[in-house]
Amino acid sequence: MYKEAIRPAWAEINLSNFDYNVKQIRAKMGNDREFIGVIKADAYGHGAIQCAEVLRENGVKTFAIATLQEAITLREAGATERIICLGLTPDMYVDILAQYDIIPVVDDSRNARAISDAAAARGKTIDCLIAVDTGMGRIGYLADDLNYAIEDIRRIAVLPNIRILGMFSHMATADAFDKTFSHEQEARYNRFYDAVTQAGIPLPFRTLANSASIMELPTVLFDGCRPGIILYGQYPSHEVDKNQLSLKPVMQVKANIVHLKYVPPGFSCGYGRKFIANRPSAIATVGLGYADGYPRPYSAKARVIVNGQICNVAGNICMDQFMVDVTDVPGVKVGDEVIVMGTDGVNTISADDIADATGTINYEITCAFGQRLPKVFVK
Ligand SMILES: Cc1ncc(COP(=O)(O)O)c(C=O)c1O
Repeated sequence: MYKEAIRPAWAEINLSNFDYNVKQIRAKMGNDREFIGVIKADAYGHGAIQCAEVLRENGVKTFAIATLQEAITLREAGATERIICLGLTPDMYVDILAQYDIIPVVDDSRNARAISDAAAARGKTIDCLIAVDTGMGRIGYLADDLNYAIEDIRRIAVLPNIRILGMFSHMATADAFDKTFSHEQEARYNRFYDAVTQAGIPLPFRTLANSASIMELPTVLFDGCRPGIILYGQYPSHEVDKNQLSLKPVMQVKANIVHLKYVPPGFSCGYGRKFIANRPSAIATVGLGYADGYPRPYSAKARVIVNGQICNVAGNICMDQFMVDVTDVPGVKVGDEVIVMGTDGVNTISADDIADATGTINYEITCAFGQRLPKVFVK
């Protein structure tokens, strides 16, 4: 139990493991490429400010976030690194880019003009990345609509207070075993780059690679890579070759038993009475629930580790609490630690285990656990 957590449930963030992952990724990427630490969504739930600090210690000079508020949080915590905002910035908010020196991605010259005007008003020039849709289908100039794109990028190139730093795109299936579509994206990316630069518009900084690309697509690493999920010690999918990169999970989720009772057969637990004891049972209550990112659809399959034993969750996970069948844990008592996600060195419940059981991906699991649980940083 941690006094500073102010509740008997917490996400334990191991910054030594984060540091280990950063070093592994750097070795994989090579030293001559820009390491863009993707710390959006509060570093996938792990704490952006603390993760930024470890990236900084490792010489990382560029961070990527998804929302302006995330950039402001980093700046207010003293970050002086380059910060790329990976989402588009509507005209209404462009002054924030200028105020906080944030690098936007841009796919429209009217938006670029608004950004240039905002920068001018503050006596600044803003660097931007040209966003290109090579197959993600999300944002960016359509890679095959070259004539329109070149015409519009020319309009951006002549704006006085915005400077084109380079070209950005995002991979849709880099984490799949079949790399056919990734190579199509790569070809589109290269065609677009060649056409724009041959039209006389330099794109000195190219970035395309996400985690899975860093692991398995060495030809798309270009000038800067954007590792996200691998920073946090999670693999991007079950289809990547995990031997490509050694990683250590950064987040564990732990809690303490707050209530323990001994009940007869027939006793039921939780909303909907989904657990009914079929033997004299010991039931522990834990103060953590789906509002903390513990998915309710996991309830029937949910397992936790208590004093070295794997135990079943008893009934539906509630918003802020859940119950565990601890009948088979000798000597169990109030205050004992419950590992909700993590390892005791023998047994492990991973983010992937929870994701697989609930039809989602490990990304969503760590992001969700990161939202309300207090974070305890360990080294
Ligand atoms: C534009 C962009 N770049 C990079 C990343 C990092 O991806 P990953 O976590 O798979 O490395 C993301 C994550 O969603 C993203 O949206």
